Amino acid sequence: MAKIFFSLLLPLLLAFSQTFLATGADSTFVQSVKRNPMKLRTEKLSHFRFYWHDIVTGPNPTVLNIVKPVPKNKTSPTIFGLINMIDDPLTEKPEVDSKLLGRAQGLYGLASQGEAALLMAMNFVFSTGKYNGSTLTIMGRNSIYQKVREMPVIGGSGLFRFARGYVQASTHFQNDTTGDAIVEYNVHVMHY
Ligand SMILES: *[C@@H]1O[C@H](CO)[C@@H](O)[C@H](O)[C@H]1NC(C)=O
Ligand SMILES: *[C@@H]1O[C@H](CO)[C@@H](O)[C@H](O)[C@H]1NC(C)=O
Ligand SMILES: *[C@@H]1O[C@H](CO)[C@@H](O)[C@H](O)[C@H]1NC(C)=O
Repeated sequence: MAKIFFSLLLPLLLAFSQTFLATGADSTFVQSVKRNPMKLRTEKLSHFRFYWHDIVTGPNPTVLNIVKPVPKNKTSPTIFGLINMIDDPLTEKPEVDSKLLGRAQGLYGLASQGEAALLMAMNFVFSTGKYNGSTLTIMGRNSIYQKVREMPVIGGSGLFRFARGYVQASTHFQNDTTGDAIVEYNVHVMHY
């Protein structure tokens, strides 16, 4: 009898209770799914390094000013309130014509009245190899005259589903006259 219970009845009972839980009253609203999202692949930590080009001037700018600074504060040294939209190339080397790995699309705004600190909200959209089409979302504070700035990776898509991590940005080159900048990004990200 015990043998029959374990080989036949117990699996049936388990199947029944799982079906019951999954197809309860609100089954289309929420269902619990197996926890491991990427079919038993283990979570890994990857380090990416590339260069971000903010091209303000020249024939093909990648930055567009969409909100002017707060009018009362035009003289503010931090141009508080300014917001730029970007579609910046991400390249393998500091040279803008080196291998294109993807683009940084999003915006940044001058969010501090006391120093040149940005609120950045951008997606890294990769276009290379197996990462083609996958994205990482970065949102954080970038105090641009600090040597190394850290911002959170708050998520991702494609190969970066469930991503979390951080980026460290350090300025490789900046032209204070034009605003053009090349920034090295080191990205540490946990993903499947
Ligand atoms: C303008 O900028 C100054 C200096 O950064 C700051 O003290 C002041 O509060 C700002 N005023 C407004 C209206 O944002
Ligand atoms: C990336 O994906 C796009 C859209 O699927 C495709 O057109 C393009 O050729 C791909 N690029 C590479 C380098 O695989
Ligand atoms: C910055 O840009 C200006 C205007 O294009 C140029 O004259 C100057 O040489 C540039 N400075 C550097 C360090 O590249």
